[in-house]
Amino acid sequence: MFIIEQNLIDQTKEAILEAGKIILHNWDRPKQIRHKGRIDLVTDTDVAVEDKLKSSLKDILPQTSFLAEESASSTKPGNLTWIIDPLDGTTNFAHHIPFVAISVALWAENNVVLGFVYLPILKEMFWAAHNKGAFLNDQKISVSTTKALEQSLVATGFPYSVREDIDEIMTYLRKVLVTARGVRRPGSAAIDLAYTACGRYDAFYELGLKPWDTAAGLLLVQEAGGNISTFSDKPYTLGHRQILATNGLVHQAMVDLLR
Ligand code: IPD
Ligand code: CA
Ligand code: CA
Repeated sequence: MFIIEQNLIDQTKEAILEAGKIILHNWDRPKQIRHKGRIDLVTDTDVAVEDKLKSSLKDILPQTSFLAEESASSTKPGNLTWIIDPLDGTTNFAHHIPFVAISVALWAENNVVLGFVYLPILKEMFWAAHNKGAFLNDQKISVSTTKALEQSLVATGFPYSVREDIDEIMTYLRKVLVTARGVRRPGSAAIDLAYTACGRYDAFYELGLKPWDTAAGLLLVQEAGGNISTFSDKPYTLGHRQILATNGLVHQAMVDLLR
C-alpha cells in the first residue's frame, strides 16, 4: 500500500509554490501565445511551469512517471504517476483574469492519493490526501449543505470542441439554467472542482475534460464529503467524457436533470 507521509505533502506543496512563482512573475508581462487548436491556447508560462514541476517532483519521488498536459503522449497514468496541468485556465491567463491554477495529483495503485489545486494570483492552496481530508491553506474544508437545485450555484465549462458539440452543450446548459439559482463558467475545471469542495459551488458538470483537468480536483471533492460520477451516476473514471461533482445532497437531482 502506498503510504502518504507528511513530508511528501510538505515537499510537494513547496514545489508547487515555487512553480507558482513563474505564473506570478509572468502575470503582468506580455504573453507569448501559440494555438494548439482553433481556440485552444498555450503560452510559454504553461511550458515553463510544467518543466519546473517535472524536475522538482522527480527529485521528491524518483520512481514516478508523469502525465503532464504539455508533454503527454497518452492519457493513461502508469503505476505511480504525477498527473499535472501546469496552468489550468490558460485562456484566463492570456486575458489577465485571475482564475488560473496549477493542478497536481499523485496517482498510486489505481487511485488519486494526493491532490493540489493552487491559485497563485488569488493565493489559495487547496489540497487533499486520501483518507486525510481536504484543506484550503490550513483550514479543513467541506462541501455545502444546500439541498435543492433552486438554491444551488452550479459551475460548468465548455470543451474546445464547442462547435462540434454545441447541441449537446446547449441541451445540458438550458436544463441547468432554468433550474438552478445560477450558473458560472469561470474557465478552470480544477478551480471549479476546488470551489465545489469548499462549498462555494453546490455542483459542477462538464463534458470532455482530460485526466489532468480533474485528477486533483476529484480527490478534493471526495475528501470534502462530495460525490463524483458520470451524468448517469456511474462511477467516474479519469478521462471519462462526462463529470458531475456535487455536494452529495443535490447529486440525484443533477443526475435526474442531466440524464
Ligand atoms: C481548460 C479549462 C476550462 C475547461 C476546458 C479545459 P486549460 O483547461 O479547465 O475550464 O472548460 O475544457 O480544457 O486548457 O485552460 O488547461
Ligand atoms: Ca486544463
Ligand atoms: Ca492547461
